[in-house]
Amino acid sequence: MTESILVQGLVKRLGKKQALDGVSMSAGEGTVLALLGPNGAGKTTTVRVLSTLIRPDAGHVEVCGIDVTAQPRRVRGLIGLTGQFAAVDEILTGRENLELVGRLHRIGRTEARRRADDLLERMGLSEAANQRVKTYSGGMRRRLDLTASLLIRPRVLFLDEPTTGLDLRSRLDLWSEIELLVRDGTTLLLTTQYLEEADRLADSVTVIDRGKVVAQGTPSELKQQVGDERVTFTLADPAELDRAHEALRGHGDENPFHDRARAQLTLRLDGGIETVTAMVRDLSDAGITPVTHEVRRPSLDDVFLTLTGSTATEAAHEAEQDKATSGRRGKASARDRNGATR
Ligand SMILES: Nc1ncnc2c1ncn2[C@@H]1O[C@H](COP(=O)(O)OP(=O)(O)OP(=O)(O)O)[C@@H](O)[C@H]1O
Ligand SMILES: [Mg+2]
Repeated sequence: MTESILVQGLVKRLGKKQALDGVSMSAGEGTVLALLGPNGAGKTTTVRVLSTLIRPDAGHVEVCGIDVTAQPRRVRGLIGLTGQFAAVDEILTGRENLELVGRLHRIGRTEARRRADDLLERMGLSEAANQRVKTYSGGMRRRLDLTASLLIRPRVLFLDEPTTGLDLRSRLDLWSEIELLVRDGTTLLLTTQYLEEADRLADSVTVIDRGKVVAQGTPSELKQQVGDERVTFTLADPAELDRAHEALRGHGDENPFHDRARAQLTLRLDGGIETVTAMVRDLSDAGITPVTHEVRRPSLDDVFLTLTGSTATEAAHEAEQDKATSGRRGKASARDRNGATR
């Protein structure tokens, strides 16, 4: 079977930066591949290569069996792209923007209108459809931009951080639309920093960090890789963290995660509730009474932590600093997600 997306050994340098350093991944027709990674990991660079906006330095990249370097125009005819930043025309109304996209993709006028009205409704933009985009809020622009990609029903769709900046309602609406599109056979590559999003939508996940693949598999395979459940103890005082770590040494996790800001210690749990009880007893013997403890199944954020040794948030912070020192204008890094030990 031909893969709809095939990336082998992709290398791309941007300025002095090795943005991609041998990335390989693939997605079958009608599946969702999530590319997950912190700021600066190389997600947008990968999407730009796949959508023929930039050429790879090395490696082999195919979309629907067509080489993106050899036949970029053919590839462009098959794909849709919503970039990380909204690309809609401010002077036009929402509906006019969609009609324009319909014309560019040679969808008949009646059909384009029908699809546009339908999608505007489902994406919560009906009321604003006849207003100029310059009066839209950031989230509305983003939704319109995404609506344009959904309108053309491409064979392969690339969405670069589609839900960053969207409120919960809009995020859920978009997820439903994505599910419909994929059910009709579109292959989707989605980049995200939201582990929950990859978990909910993706058939397979590729985790990248600093241009390299650090993990690959289905969401549940990745979680299995990380293993057991987690227990997080919240202490009264971050100064107790080291002593708590010491007291819990006998329970198998040599490398618990310390979150000083929240006075939390997170450990893998090799056993059930009895282990938690034993842990609480050991803490108590050391004179420490946790404020709360929480047991939970591993999240994809734990995958990140286990594989890269840092949380997605920390890795992103490092990348931001790299950017600042290389003199590029850094973009806002404040994203509404928490660290690994939620
Ligand atoms: N035009 C450029 N010139 C030099 N370096 C660049 C350029 N574009 C990106 N980079 C660098 O390449 C690396 C990968 O960037 P990329 O935009 O692909 O990351 P990303 O995973 O999309 O991050 P984000 O989550 O912030 O969108 C970063 O270190 C970035 O600073
Ligand atoms: Mg990006």
